[in-house]
Amino acid sequence: MKGILSYAVLMLFAGFVSSAAASDNDSGNKFVRDLMKKMTLEEKIGQLEHPVIQDKTDFKELEEGVRSGRIGSFCVTKGGKLTLEERNRLQKIAVEESRLGIPLFFAFDVIHGYNTVFPTPLGMSATWNDALVEEASHYAAADASGSGIDMGYAPMVDVSRDPRWGRISECFGEDVLLNERMGSAVVRGFQGESLSDNTSIASCVKHYVGYGLSMGGRDKQYTEISERSLREIYLPPFQACVDAGAAAVMSAFNDISGIPASANRFTLTDVLKEEWGFDGTVVSDWDSVVELMNHGIASDKKEAAEKALVAGVDVEMKSDCYLSGLESSVEDRTVSLKRIDDAVYRVLKLKFDLGLFDSPYSARNDIDEGYVRELNRKVARESMVLLKNDGILPLSPRTAKISVVGPFSENQDLLGWWTGNGNQKNVVTVVEGMKNISPSNTVIVQGTEARSKAPVTVVCVGEPGSTFGESNCLSDITLSRSQVELVREVKQTGTKVIVVVFNGRPLVLDPVLDYADAVLLAWHPGYEAGNAVAEILWGMESPSGKLTVTLPSASGHIPLFYSDRPSGRPSENKYKYEGKVKASFPFGFGLSYTEFEYSGLEVVKNSDNTVDVSVTVSNVGDADGKEIVQMYVRDEVASVTRPVKELKDYRKIFLKKGESEVVRFKLLPEQLAFWNVEMEKVVEPGGFKVWVGPDSAGGLEGRFEL
Ligand code: BGC
Repeated sequence: MKGILSYAVLMLFAGFVSSAAASDNDSGNKFVRDLMKKMTLEEKIGQLEHPVIQDKTDFKELEEGVRSGRIGSFCVTKGGKLTLEERNRLQKIAVEESRLGIPLFFAFDVIHGYNTVFPTPLGMSATWNDALVEEASHYAAADASGSGIDMGYAPMVDVSRDPRWGRISECFGEDVLLNERMGSAVVRGFQGESLSDNTSIASCVKHYVGYGLSMGGRDKQYTEISERSLREIYLPPFQACVDAGAAAVMSAFNDISGIPASANRFTLTDVLKEEWGFDGTVVSDWDSVVELMNHGIASDKKEAAEKALVAGVDVEMKSDCYLSGLESSVEDRTVSLKRIDDAVYRVLKLKFDLGLFDSPYSARNDIDEGYVRELNRKVARESMVLLKNDGILPLSPRTAKISVVGPFSENQDLLGWWTGNGNQKNVVTVVEGMKNISPSNTVIVQGTEARSKAPVTVVCVGEPGSTFGESNCLSDITLSRSQVELVREVKQTGTKVIVVVFNGRPLVLDPVLDYADAVLLAWHPGYEAGNAVAEILWGMESPSGKLTVTLPSASGHIPLFYSDRPSGRPSENKYKYEGKVKASFPFGFGLSYTEFEYSGLEVVKNSDNTVDVSVTVSNVGDADGKEIVQMYVRDEVASVTRPVKELKDYRKIFLKKGESEVVRFKLLPEQLAFWNVEMEKVVEPGGFKVWVGPDSAGGLEGRFEL
């Protein structure tokens, strides 16, 4: 076995700061500790309750709960239609009528926008533009905060490699690094400089952990995950968000190898709170505490509460096991007062950091709606991935007539599954966008009129927001047969066919590829959908999005992802009647209206074991454009198997036509570290392959040795 470089066991216990150990100079600490001295056990448990405000909520009951200190915070749902005034009224009851006047916090699913809805997270990830994601998240937070929301249940950083699972649309794709970077961008965007700013909200990172591996792509099912996979794939995005300062983490629904995530001491306490030093609040997912009974590890609510709290869940969402069980658990010593105090401290400290003790009431923020719309359009444009182009795009300004057809041509269902506080009525459809953006000499025809022959037809296909997201899983992710048939029929009329796909999850698109002269993957782009599509089709901006998920050519090939482990006999990685399994479009892929050439790869290992990797990227095509330069690495021989390729860094650059740029990456030893046979995080000496290129399938290849 190879040796281990000086860069040895990392992080283990390194940053451990328990709340109990927080410094006494921390005014939050003293304030909270003094407050806790005045609290009864019932009031303490009340702070851990996080009931839901939804359509049929009985407000009288909630008010009484707030008044008596039995409710610490709320999960607000869209159906609950909580106005800012009602929020402040409930807050007033907490502050003025409860015994200790402890303010509430209100949380909401601010997933991809609030009043203005941006592209779905999976769509946003295809921008590979962390700064843009951060800015969009910042506006979402400011919007939400001005509507009385103190916490957003985002980002969702569940690495997922199974597009049958509807919730893949909520994450940042199949890759660890992208989930790390995009997730931390959301945390920074939400939380800003300080949680107490009136434009900030707390970030609740979810769903901790491994939920993306739900068996068979069916929601909330068992997950079988080794500690190695947890540490290499599923945990790192959460750790990145914790390092970025995330105030809260949501414990997931799934059972992790026999121990449900919401009762999992190893993941919640040993790793999250102790190894990583997370001093924020753990909130359970919706009913995931009471559901421990369904999992078969608790016989009643009291036992469910004990298992969740002892494992590390501080706050219980929706169900009321804590309220009904914990008092007697303290009496019979199944749960220690110390653990209750730790959980309560975390909640009160969060409220303190949010500034709620000083300013419990919310007021509207002055948001420049026009700017946010513009930003939405920009993110949408950058998220779109051009999969195929036989030369029809960008459209020629001489095009006299364009038909726009298909089930999504005049459809406003382009907001995804979570729609924030948004309304489909505000979505610009493709027909409207084409009318807004097209030159005056181009006639746009739609609906029945569209049957009159046009030289170019835009066929808008995809999946409605109700077919992906939570609980919406599919056994077959192929674009529906009727839509494939529509594309075929349109092609037979002799027109050029541009297929625009509005999808939440990756879809199998092979059946339409032969009938399409161009295919643009548009995701669910949000309010500015139609304008963004039209601007891309007309070439006002060159497409620059790239896939953050592999597009398989058949549902039966799932899971298919680029960073697989090498097998002993790769030649047998195939199906009898189809042969070798190949992605239709690989991870990282996306076309542009221009062409980029890669040359002059240089790989230099420095004496401190850092590696400088540089490459020249030239825009050799006919348009200006953005390119996403991707660097992948493979550890050639290690003590445990390593992925065939792993994304290690990326850079999005803009090059005018004819321009070149030298793109430089620095690989640090910790980027090459992995969990060895003894489950220590190490870098092992030896050879590494490195590729820099436009996607996971190509690129220039180099090598270095450590
Ligand atoms: C989902 C979470 C969400 C929560 C609150 C749950 O069903 O899994 O993602 O944040 O509901 O709406």
